Amino acid sequence: MPGTPISFARGAPAPDLIPALELAECAHEVARRDGDKVFAYGPGGGYAPLREWVAERHGVPVERVVLTVGGLQGFVFYAAEQLARRPGRVLVEAPSYDRPLKVLAREGAEVVALPMDDEGLEPDALEAELRNRSEPASFLYTIPTFQNPSGRSLSQDRRARIVEIVREHELAVLEDDPYGLVRFEGAARPSLLELEGGTLATYTSSFSKTVAPGVRTGYFVLPQGDASGFEERAVSTYISPPFLPEAIVWEFIRRGRFEPNLERVQNELRSRRDAMLRALAQHLGGHASWSTPEGGYFVWLDLDGDTDTSDLAVRAENAGVAIVPGAGFFPAGSGLGRSSARLAFSYETPQRIAEGIELLASLR
Ligand SMILES: Cc1ncc(COP(=O)(O)O)c(C=O)c1O
Repeated sequence: MPGTPISFARGAPAPDLIPALELAECAHEVARRDGDKVFAYGPGGGYAPLREWVAERHGVPVERVVLTVGGLQGFVFYAAEQLARRPGRVLVEAPSYDRPLKVLAREGAEVVALPMDDEGLEPDALEAELRNRSEPASFLYTIPTFQNPSGRSLSQDRRARIVEIVREHELAVLEDDPYGLVRFEGAARPSLLELEGGTLATYTSSFSKTVAPGVRTGYFVLPQGDASGFEERAVSTYISPPFLPEAIVWEFIRRGRFEPNLERVQNELRSRRDAMLRALAQHLGGHASWSTPEGGYFVWLDLDGDTDTSDLAVRAENAGVAIVPGAGFFPAGSGLGRSSARLAFSYETPQRIAEGIELLASLR
């Protein structure tokens, strides 16, 4: 009987990375202690104590923080608000996270894919794009740290350069950073929000990767003038967010569990990342190149020759390994990413990762 398929497709934490029992205790506690708030309607911007914690962490007034039902729901609000206020094309690095690309396509936005390399988005390409078109762009969407799908991070110099360009062109930028704290080694780099100061830069993160995705709690740190319009979109979509999961996250933090849990998650994911890099070197060395992320969930694989990873994904699935072909991380019809794939190391054990890569290599 075939075993359970090995999934490199799921950008999700392995079940043992979720602190389920501790969260259950937090749920019980907040429901009893703060039930009149967590089971009621309330502010569209989210559960006040958590909102205040986020505001303090980022050194901004609480009015600039809006908690969202995961980061992706917030992206939907941000994109709609930004495109309504400043219609125009949206600039993205290529490859980029596929769900926002789909949201933007649905909004009817023109999406311009800018090249990136191992140091992240190429500033010269951004500058050339802005200079070559007379009409202003709506915004830049970027994932500077442990990017989905590539695992790459924007270098320190490029962060500074991109902020210069953003200022010169008065370009709004959305910095999506759900993986930044999931760092295995190396020093953290300043966020675009820190470098820019929060006039043009909006920062978003989420507790999906640091606590659990099922709490569906993300947040946005918005420029002063943008926060109320953004919050209004939340109110007119769901009135107020579910407070119970936001309060669970807050209670988890209040109990001092956030940092130790994060450390455990970092250690677990580091050994999974190491297993994947080792197996790639052993079985695909000389036939492919791949990113070496210092954190996050993903390795980006570029196969040599003309292997079509859409075909490979079908053969791999039949053999019991799931991967995501690269093409879906580029704007539709661009023809890019044909020989690439996203490999998530977050879901499987190191041993299954090694087995899965060996199997994948044999199918190439
Ligand atoms: C880059 C990026 N942004 C946002 C999200 C959305 O996360 P959530 O909606 O769970 O907060 C993800 C999820 O994988 C992601 O990879």
